[in-house]
Amino acid sequence: MFTGNRADEIADMLKLQAGLMRVGEKLPSVRELSKTYAASPVTITQAITSLSAQGVVRAEPGRGTFVAGRNSPAEPDFAWQSSTLGRSRVDPGRAGKFGGNGTAEHVQLSWGYLAPELQPFDELRTIGSRCAKSHRAWTMAPPMGLPELRRVFAEELSAEPGDVLIMPGGQQSLAFAMRTLADPGTTVITESPSYPGATIAAQAAGLNLTAVPADEHGIRTDHLAEALERTRAKLIYLQPCFANPTGSVLSPERRLEVIALAKQYGAFIIEDDWARNLSLEGSAPPPLFTQDPDGHVVSIATLSKPAAPGLRVGAIAARGPAGERLRTARIADDMCVPALTQEIALALLTSSAWPRHLKRLRTGLLERRDAMVAEIHSSMSGARVVNVPTGGIHLWVKLPDGTDSTALTAAANRAGVLVGDGRQYYVDEPPAPYIRLSYSAASIAQIQAGVRRVATLLPGLSAAAERA
Ligand SMILES: Cc1ncc(COP(=O)(O)O)c(C=O)c1O
Repeated sequence: MFTGNRADEIADMLKLQAGLMRVGEKLPSVRELSKTYAASPVTITQAITSLSAQGVVRAEPGRGTFVAGRNSPAEPDFAWQSSTLGRSRVDPGRAGKFGGNGTAEHVQLSWGYLAPELQPFDELRTIGSRCAKSHRAWTMAPPMGLPELRRVFAEELSAEPGDVLIMPGGQQSLAFAMRTLADPGTTVITESPSYPGATIAAQAAGLNLTAVPADEHGIRTDHLAEALERTRAKLIYLQPCFANPTGSVLSPERRLEVIALAKQYGAFIIEDDWARNLSLEGSAPPPLFTQDPDGHVVSIATLSKPAAPGLRVGAIAARGPAGERLRTARIADDMCVPALTQEIALALLTSSAWPRHLKRLRTGLLERRDAMVAEIHSSMSGARVVNVPTGGIHLWVKLPDGTDSTALTAAANRAGVLVGDGRQYYVDEPPAPYIRLSYSAASIAQIQAGVRRVATLLPGLSAAAERA
């Protein structure tokens, strides 16, 4: 007991002494302090330990004791946050793989946006500087978006402009729609494989995910019917037009069937219509929204894909009370999408440069798609493109049986090529090994070189997998 009091007394005196010294300055040794305070080394060590705990000093074994930052612990202690926060809703492993861009040296075969040379850069620069000069660009836009821009998005959907809400891109629209249209703890059904951003948006909304298999004609409606019956889900996430990652287009029969099932079970369909302007052969099917007068389909559009990802302009269209609810909830999140970007989007979409850009884009993407398909089939032995897409920007590549797609993705990254690990596109275990290769962000020469480099890694990895 006596030792404890003495240690406290010495700690108080040492604290005063440390207060007169500079941060980082070394305190006398334990031996010297023993002499100064006529106390045993054990008592001095107790005093130092107490001061360390208070953050006054920092003891470095073998080096001595140093004055720490004034009245603050040497290292911030965030440990308390873990128990306060509880478990993360969004799976960090999945989210961490998302949006990675690699370095300038990487061949970019995993990024789902356009290469700079495919973006309407000249138009954006001219329109952008003109818009920035107007006062309109710097005022607060109406919370639901510029009326003219709502009208432009509405026309595409044969919707009323009042049913359209301008949003800062597709990802935000997905997260917002899932959070607003479903209660935490309920189920969202997603076609599988599907966009990992939708998976993390559902997780962020606290929803349980149920995966329903899709083939080259889109979601399997027989399995969808079974899943709706089993889970009583009120939300279905679909990409009916050039789905990411498979490129599939929902067939005309299945379009009618999913709408009928949504009616039967009183469910909403979130139609992620990101690839509408990216058809490469023929024309894109009409939005599912146009086939449903009863407000089951909530459609999401984005300009990030056909224009530029930094623009951050998109839209949600929803009819009936759901539309009302989305518009009410929106104001709780944000005052408006910046007027400047809305003005730019409006000017771009209504200019004669827009159809010219889309035409040029189609040619550029078609050349890249064909070059990538040809290179995969000639150099990646045993791999095959499951379905050559007639639109969009991705190829879904089935790898030889036994290949570890995660190991291949990591090896490709080390070899300077970014590819998408197929595992990320499944909510549950993948049924076979796949990678997603995107042809929009690289040049033809880069695509060919990148695919060839990945091909050289493949035999080693599939053989290793077979041996394991
Ligand atoms: C299928 C799909 N939906 C939505 C998005 C989100 O796009 P953004 O938020 O850039 O508009 C992406 C982006 O990769 C996507 O692939």
